[in-house]
Amino acid sequence: MEGACDCSNQPVNDQERFDLLRQVILDYEKKESNLIQILHMAQAIFDYLPENVLKFIGTEMNMPMSAIYAVVSFYSYFTTQPKGRHTIQVCMGTACYVRGGKKVLDGLKETLKIDVGQTTPDRRFSLEVKRCIGSCSLAPAVSIDNVVHKRVNPNKLQDILSKYD
Ligand code: FES
Repeated sequence: MEGACDCSNQPVNDQERFDLLRQVILDYEKKESNLIQILHMAQAIFDYLPENVLKFIGTEMNMPMSAIYAVVSFYSYFTTQPKGRHTIQVCMGTACYVRGGKKVLDGLKETLKIDVGQTTPDRRFSLEVKRCIGSCSLAPAVSIDNVVHKRVNPNKLQDILSKYD
């Protein structure tokens, strides 16, 4: 199909990923002021920001690791852990919170045996919280891979999670 992307030029191994990241850093002229953009690109290339990637950036940009870690830890969208195949976002906005959102979150933590910001060891699920996911009238709401589950309660969790492999 014309215009369809077959993604055949995506990096397939770490060597190619690091080559691409080196090019990105050059394109951004190794400027410290471009660090956030470079980290975004690095996360897009590797899916997350493991230590060896951060060290590579530090070496290429001649920046101390402390400065890089400071940026990575400040912005919540950067992650140093690999994400799960499915991302669960529990709404902690006011409507959801007062209608049991915290119980849902506690139920998920207990079921998955992880905390917010973590991923299950089998990399099946990552757990996050959000302020509002736009379904306040059907609170409490939980989004999984951007599909919203409404009026969730702890008893429904096993059933919902079982739909995701
Ligand atoms: S507060 Fe939860 S969907 Fe709006």
